Amino acid sequence: MSQPIWDAVDAFAEGLLIGPDPVLDEAARNNSLAGLPPIAVTPSQGRLLNLLARIHGTRRILEVGTLGGYSTIWLARALPADGRLVTLELDPGYAAVAERNVAAAGLAALVEIRVGPAIDSLAALAAERPEPFDLAFIDADKANTPVYFEAALELCRPGGVIVADNVVRGGTLADPDTDDASAIGNRRLHELLAAEPRVEATTIQTVGAKGYDGFTLALIRA
Ligand code: SAH
Ligand code: DHB
Ligand code: MG
Repeated sequence: MSQPIWDAVDAFAEGLLIGPDPVLDEAARNNSLAGLPPIAVTPSQGRLLNLLARIHGTRRILEVGTLGGYSTIWLARALPADGRLVTLELDPGYAAVAERNVAAAGLAALVEIRVGPAIDSLAALAAERPEPFDLAFIDADKANTPVYFEAALELCRPGGVIVADNVVRGGTLADPDTDDASAIGNRRLHELLAAEPRVEATTIQTVGAKGYDGFTLALIRA
């Protein structure tokens, strides 16, 4: 079983369970036209994030890694009218595309995009002592995923949920001799989780239109 089957299954399930979505489809088209790398979550993964946020009654979301705002829109759609999503993006050009996509989705009032290295944005955010977040989605430079996880842990409430994307990366997660910075970051995330009494976590391997990868889901003990 390999990529053509994974593509076909995503297409089948998305065709029936998600269907055309003019706003999200237009955002994906804008990202592609603007030359953004094709690394946004798939519709199936976006729907999962949206469902998770709703199952959890999420009111405040932190996202690290905006790209063109595709996952941002999926997540922000789960929020109530007085909800808030803060999303962090290094690249000002990507952030500008995201700003337009989020506005076209009618979500501008709920979403704040902060441009700059996420490490700096997270420090600035923490200094503002914001109302705690209910859910964090970490999806930026994978080498720093453990750093972002530790910051998210401080910014989220007890009972909060943290999701980290792309932790498996073709299986490099399991290679102790890897010299890939992303794989090293993802391995470090797992070591940190193992040593962190405040969280319980699981890593789920996935296949689909984006190949073989996976995500980590962590619950902060209440
Ligand atoms: N969440 C998006 C995809 C994000 S891709 C979606 O699914 O639609 C990863 C993003 O992280 C890219 O846009 C990249 O520019 C951004 N990124 C990389 N390094 C970063 C850093 N140090 N700080 C903030 N964002 C960063
Ligand atoms: C990459 C980043 C992602 O967030 C993703 O989902 C897939 C790939 C990347 O940087 O290669
Ligand atoms: Mg990702």
